[in-house]
Amino acid sequence: MWTPKSLPRDLPRYLALADRIAEDIASGRLQPGMRLPPQRDLAARLGVDFTTISRGYAEARRRGLIVGHVGRGTFVRPTREGEPLAADRIADRGELVDMSLNLPPGIAVEEAGRALAETLGALRAAGGLSALLDYQPNAGRLTDRAAGAEWVARRLGAPVAPERIVICGGAQHALTVCLLSLANPGDIVATEALTYPGFRALAEQLHLRVEGVEIDEHGIRPRALRELCRRRTVRALYCTPTLHNPTTAVMPIERRRKLARVAEEFGVAIIEDDVYGTLATDAPPPLSSLAPAQSYFVASLSKAVASGLRIAYLLAPDARTADRLAAAVRATTWMATPLTAEIASRWILDGTAERVREAVRAEVRSRQRLARSILAGQRMRAHPEGFHIWLELPPGWSSAELVMQARRAGVAITPSDAFAVGSEPPPAAVRLSLGAARTTDALERALRTVARLLEMAPRSGL
Ligand SMILES: Cc1ncc(COP(=O)(O)O)c(C=O)c1O
Repeated sequence: MWTPKSLPRDLPRYLALADRIAEDIASGRLQPGMRLPPQRDLAARLGVDFTTISRGYAEARRRGLIVGHVGRGTFVRPTREGEPLAADRIADRGELVDMSLNLPPGIAVEEAGRALAETLGALRAAGGLSALLDYQPNAGRLTDRAAGAEWVARRLGAPVAPERIVICGGAQHALTVCLLSLANPGDIVATEALTYPGFRALAEQLHLRVEGVEIDEHGIRPRALRELCRRRTVRALYCTPTLHNPTTAVMPIERRRKLARVAEEFGVAIIEDDVYGTLATDAPPPLSSLAPAQSYFVASLSKAVASGLRIAYLLAPDARTADRLAAAVRATTWMATPLTAEIASRWILDGTAERVREAVRAEVRSRQRLARSILAGQRMRAHPEGFHIWLELPPGWSSAELVMQARRAGVAITPSDAFAVGSEPPPAAVRLSLGAARTTDALERALRTVARLLEMAPRSGL
């Protein structure tokens, strides 16, 4: 069995492991189709923890170096013998079109960047800059919590008390804070059977057990959640009812009501990730508003305004719970960055945040129109204001095969197993993210490449 050379210490070890896999493929030590060691074996042999290996394999999978699925083995991506990978050559020249990265379209940074220059000027003129370099309360300054409450209130359609808001360093941090407060190692947290990989990674780090719940085109099936709750004690449900990642589903209101009832019946806390919620003009009221006493609502500015601000507003059921969540903020980062919290507050109150969001929406709509026209005839799920296309593959194609072929042709996409939870094999599908391509031309080329591939027969039978 393959064992890499020792991992250098100047890099996070999981990245070093992915680099070693790449080097050994390039040198021929790892041959196409070779099986990689099971994660636990490799962890024991290298004397590192299991998470390092699983993150390293996930990174290598993301780079298109390996394929496979938990439980069925991990393999070096097959290639025809002696054939250099076109995708690697293209990537070297910086021409890879990356539809695997889940980024807002570049217009967001352009618009927000222009606003930032002005906002920093206004801040300097107002003379309040140095106060933003001090430590602040863990949940954030009350003025910033009030601005966050205003942002969340616009989504909820009802006023929100600032004392219920905890400012976090992005949605990922808000999820960390929720899980630290709500669950202990070994507890079960339920989520959609296909879910945001950042959540899976986080739950793994916190030693939680993640149970995937059956989904359909509307999201989680309440009956499946009820069955799980009857069998096991479920501490929390993590879900993204609006513009779900990766399937883009928006859960209808009736389904939300049923889901809220199941959560209430079994006392399951709801962690609602609304990171895309502000983008969808047809979004029903949040699930959290239907079971407010046990819901934790996460509204981030990352997707609609600016990811680099690292600001999310976590709405707690009440002020006392917000204090408890603030203890987890203290334990993880002390407080969200006051400077960016201040910028976010100004943008919410002066209309910049909504202006940037409108620009993002308009760009996303136009990218979605382009994708729909190029992929017409394919089985896919999409939403006019969503970042992704969930493409269900024609018979004969597996997602690993399409990812590999697309990569060779210079296009990166994400296989369904990146999102899968549990032992059920994931569907033959891929996620195409429309935001990262820098230009519409590049996006069009990439989409045409995928469409052309799907018209052909798969080659390697992966
Ligand atoms: C469903 C979901 N939640 C959370 C995040 C992370 O958001 P943030 O950048 O605010 O941490 C992402 C980003 O990809 C996401 O898709």
